[in-house]
Amino acid sequence: MSERTQVAIIGAGPAGLVLSHLLHLQGIESVILESRSRDYVEKRIRAGMLEQRTVDLLVASGVGERLKREAMVHTGLNFQFQGERHRIPLDELTPGRNVTIYGQQEVVKDLIAARLAAGGAIRFEAAVEGMERLDGSRPLVRYRENGTLKEIEADHVAGCDGFHGVCRGAVANPTVYEKVYPFAWLGILAQVAPSCEELIYARHERGFALHTMRTPKLTRLYLQCPVEDRVEQWSDDRIWSELRARLDIPGWSLKDGPIIDKGITEMRSFVHQPMQQGRLYLAGDSAHIVPPTGAKGMNLAIADARVLAEALSAFYRSGSSEHLARYTADCLPRVWRAQHFSWWWTTLFHRFEDADARFQEQLQVSQLRYMLSSRPALTSMAENYVGLDRVV
Ligand code: APR
Ligand code: PHB
Repeated sequence: MSERTQVAIIGAGPAGLVLSHLLHLQGIESVILESRSRDYVEKRIRAGMLEQRTVDLLVASGVGERLKREAMVHTGLNFQFQGERHRIPLDELTPGRNVTIYGQQEVVKDLIAARLAAGGAIRFEAAVEGMERLDGSRPLVRYRENGTLKEIEADHVAGCDGFHGVCRGAVANPTVYEKVYPFAWLGILAQVAPSCEELIYARHERGFALHTMRTPKLTRLYLQCPVEDRVEQWSDDRIWSELRARLDIPGWSLKDGPIIDKGITEMRSFVHQPMQQGRLYLAGDSAHIVPPTGAKGMNLAIADARVLAEALSAFYRSGSSEHLARYTADCLPRVWRAQHFSWWWTTLFHRFEDADARFQEQLQVSQLRYMLSSRPALTSMAENYVGLDRVV
């Protein structure tokens, strides 16, 4: 006999956990299957900037207590190019809306704690290997736990298994949009207080650099690097001197400290449509990814989970599949808005080496200067940066 639940959720990242939490608040039962251990998912370092509506959702749904205490609200950001730093006041451009620095793994920890405290089921080290009957009313998910093949039957399956997951493969005849960037990001976490209270996005001849943070004692920094680079090629000394070359300006120098994490991330834009097949719904990175510039990935994953939770609640309340049927159509406008912003923000600050590189450079500077001189242009950037409430 297989186990049964209402919604089988594959993946305990932000998408799967928020979905399970919101369903629970509506009295809908779910089981999360996660291939990694709890320790691994709670420690994995990812991006860490939340849009206003993401913060509002976490707080309103009762998982924002620690966030409200520990997160860092940012009312502005800095652009840097041609050796000058310019502060952009987000709070003046988008009244009442800001961004919040809080690591993805902290969001994940809070959600796991809330689900377990409410008696929710999260199976760690349970890897999904296949799915059946997605086009019928009783889908079946097969997974391996402790070496044993098990199965769970559900009314619906949520594929929240990230970019390398298995769920996307179950969607028949998809349309895929993809762009791979010719550079990567080297990201570090250092035990040193942030050198500036806010983020610094630096466009430099040597390549892009970003100063961000996790806590008042932990700085997070990123450097554009060649895609072929390996972390072993980047000694601590080389990292600090390259960061200084790109970030320092007269009268301001980056502070250093022990590096406690180092990693290289490839940069890709990717959308897989439709985001559903029968009773399987994809949410988060399993359906789309954005380059990390602008930190939209986690926000988009949580936005999908919210749409899916609402559609599933409507199904259980009324028996109607109307909302579920238009799940993809309801998610895509926000997905494509974030795709555009992330691509634009990436092309604005990175160094390109193709035939158009010199032309591109002039466009970058022109665009940055235009924003500094035009409030409408800056407001358009700011409302996308803090996250739009409604996207049509
Ligand atoms: N079975 C069970 N779990 C799986 C399987 C599988 N076959 N394949 C992958 N997973 C798990 C992964 O171990 C991971 O914990 O699915 C989870 C997916 O989580 P995320 O990758 O965090 O994806 P998502 O919830 O969509 O969140 C997107 O993560 O990559 C960042 O920048 C991205 O911030 C964005 C966020
Ligand atoms: C981060 O803090 O990891 C971060 C913040 C802003 C970005 C990208 C990453 O644009």
